[in-house]
Amino acid sequence: MDTKNTTEEWSWLSKLFHWLTALLIFIQIPLGFYAESLRLSPLKIDVFVWHKSLGMLVFLLVIVRLLWRIKSTIPIALANSRLQKILASAAHGILYGLMLALPLSGWVTSSASNFPVKLFWLIPLPSIVGPDDALKSIAAEVHEICVFVLIAILIVHIGAALRHQLMLGDNALKRMWF
Ligand code: HEM
Ligand code: HEM
Repeated sequence: MDTKNTTEEWSWLSKLFHWLTALLIFIQIPLGFYAESLRLSPLKIDVFVWHKSLGMLVFLLVIVRLLWRIKSTIPIALANSRLQKILASAAHGILYGLMLALPLSGWVTSSASNFPVKLFWLIPLPSIVGPDDALKSIAAEVHEICVFVLIAILIVHIGAALRHQLMLGDNALKRMWF
């Protein structure tokens, strides 16, 4: 099994990166809303430990994925116009940006509210900022805006994948599947 992409195909490693992060993101969105909706209780704290731990896992994965991507061949875009190609690259770039901005803003929110992050109840993460109420509100706001941009771009992203697969018949979705 080759880990390298070709100009035609994604390697199993690229596919694994894509679908593992997709799975984590699909868990993270409802989990974040659920965590926020709970009243302060041991359950709320536990749900937040899961949310922060899985979110930091996304952060780690996306850093490794981007470092790997710099050195990789990228399959030729399945676009039928220059504009489509630009829009697809922009959407992918924004998705990568959000996968960095969400964990970072979440980490700042937790640190600024003096609620240090402990990964899976085991590994304490250092606080990246000191306790700061004003910063906490801004970071939480940024986190929330990122969530809504993420949901909007994902609707377009998934819609585009389905359109390519079902209407344009270029097997875009099949190409990303194992
Ligand atoms: C049901 C959900 C999803 C489907 C059907 C899907 C489908 C696809 C497909 C078909 C591609 C390949 C495009 C190509 O070959 O040119 C792709 C690429 C990509 N997807 Fe998804 N995706 C999904 C969820 C997600 C999620 C949740 C994220 C992240 C938040 C994401 C981020 C990306 C990124 C960044 C790329 C570009 C890969 C690169 O160029 O390095 N996708 N997706
Ligand atoms: C990786 C992807 C992540 C996604 C998709 C995500 C998604 C969400 C969602 C949907 C909410 C509820 C809506 C909101 O108020 O923003 C939320 C809230 C929150 N998340 Fe995340 N999150 C992620 C990562 C993280 C990480 C890594 C941390 C901390 C280390 C974190 C900390 C928080 C906190 C503290 C809140 C409550 C914010 C507030 O008080 O308003 N999140 N997140």
